[in-house]
Amino acid sequence: MSTIFSCSASSSLETFVLVRRFCRRCYPFNCKVSQHYVSLIITIISSMMTMKRPSRLATRLIHRNSNLHPLYDPNETVEDRSKREETSSIERFAYLESKIKELKSVGNVARSNLSPFNRGSGFLVNLSIGSPPVAQLVVIDTGSSLLWVQCLPCINCFRQSSSWFDPLKSSSFKILGCGFPGYNYVSGYKCNGYNQAEYKLRYLGGDTSQGLLAKESLLFETSDEGKIRKTNLTFGCGHMNFKTNMDDSYNGVFGLGAYPYITMATQLGNKFSYCIGDINDPLYTHNQLVLGEGAYVEGDSTPLEIHFGHYYVNLEGISVGTKRLNIDPKAFQMTWDGRGGVLIDSGMTYTKLANGGFELLYDEILDLANGLLERIPTRRQFEGLCFKGVVSRDLIGLPPVTFHFAGGADLVLESGSLFRQHGGDRFCLAILPSNSEMLNLSVIGILAQQNYNVAFDLEQMKVFFSRIDCQLLDD
Ligand SMILES: *[C@@H]1O[C@H](CO)[C@@H](O)[C@H](O)[C@H]1NC(C)=O
Ligand SMILES: *[C@@H]1O[C@H](CO)[C@@H](O)[C@H](O)[C@H]1NC(C)=O
Ligand SMILES: *[C@@H]1O[C@H](CO)[C@@H](O)[C@H](O)[C@H]1NC(C)=O
Ligand SMILES: *[C@@H]1O[C@H](CO)[C@@H](O)[C@H](O)[C@H]1NC(C)=O
Repeated sequence: MSTIFSCSASSSLETFVLVRRFCRRCYPFNCKVSQHYVSLIITIISSMMTMKRPSRLATRLIHRNSNLHPLYDPNETVEDRSKREETSSIERFAYLESKIKELKSVGNVARSNLSPFNRGSGFLVNLSIGSPPVAQLVVIDTGSSLLWVQCLPCINCFRQSSSWFDPLKSSSFKILGCGFPGYNYVSGYKCNGYNQAEYKLRYLGGDTSQGLLAKESLLFETSDEGKIRKTNLTFGCGHMNFKTNMDDSYNGVFGLGAYPYITMATQLGNKFSYCIGDINDPLYTHNQLVLGEGAYVEGDSTPLEIHFGHYYVNLEGISVGTKRLNIDPKAFQMTWDGRGGVLIDSGMTYTKLANGGFELLYDEILDLANGLLERIPTRRQFEGLCFKGVVSRDLIGLPPVTFHFAGGADLVLESGSLFRQHGGDRFCLAILPSNSEMLNLSVIGILAQQNYNVAFDLEQMKVFFSRIDCQLLDD
């Protein structure tokens, strides 16, 4: 694959200045442009100067650790936070695994603690619905495919911190008739006696949302402080909703999953991208989601596969520094009967790897740390591999861990994406063994996707990874 920005070709100062803006995109690599592309770049820059920049549907993603999140607690300690993140990751994994088991009808499906968004895992998006628009905070989910919000009148609603949406007060609200295109992808679809389409979403663990399917307008505040309105979108108006957790920060789910027609991923175009910069800093505001044609589809790609409505990628191997681990290729492959595979998720903080791959990574990191870091025996069952020290201080020079995907795309994990501070003087590996003999499922979480723009192109059926400073997308 040819790259415009190579890291070896020398270039004149003039060229350097010209492409500085572009090169910053390669962050944190220090790259230079190859002479060959100078004229191309001049063309791009001049056309950018004369053309009006198309307005992208780019909206801010609010992370649980952000001070904009309703559950933000400035008093939360590093230890509290890591416990919360670890627990929510384990619960999210259990949720995904049980969902797949249920769809496949294999094994025991645990049902306790299975809310899909426990403890504020998952990014929030602030959007407005209806005419006039009513602001809603919804959680994005690449694991489900319908947008739903709580709707008045409530047969049952849980507490919410945002304002209530009353469809009777919206001039753009239109109930969908039965048999609309894509109805067969809707969970619990039913045609009632008034020829209205109903849905009933039943998450494992007891959370449900039930109501009418309808068309509405959505208003997004874009990260450049503009507003973009999209009309005629299918969503679920939930009149009967139950939530098992006490989290009232979100009042609906923004489904970006893989089922066509109903998912926001295809209703707004056939692609979306998100950029995750930093999930530690409460003041960081550049995590963003871009929907539709404006999505940043850049970088190396790997084929996207859809199973059980989820997005899967083909992880072929893992390197630590330049050493490729001798992992059995089967460890991450999906079997003919749908076990295993590597799911890429927006709602899980940590990463879980099938034991066949995890064990070799674990051994290699332990080997590297030998004599340099003091290992801390772990008290809790899940903590895995912990050391004494501070991630930002004691891991300088640690070789990165690279996930290699089919087609040549890589995800490079530096220490901040690999380890999590668990207290003042202790940090742990943010990758856990999946410990699931039944499924051997692996899930790539949000920490591992930090410093990347990740694009899903549902037409080309590809995922693109591009290492970037998300702030540059806002400039
Ligand atoms: C944080 O701690 C301070 C001082 O103890 C207290 O006044 C404040 O209410 C706490 N804030 C929250 C959100 O708990
Ligand atoms: C969401 O957007 C509305 C409308 O712009 C605003 O009033 C509200 O404060 C926002 N909420 C959050 C949590 O950002
Ligand atoms: C709304 O979308 C449906 C397809 O889902 C289409 O048939 C209809 O014409 C659209 N209406 C408007 C006003 O765009
Ligand atoms: C899970 O992976 C392990 C090691 O790669 C293998 O021995 C086991 O058979 C796999 N289990 C299933 C159900 O595929």
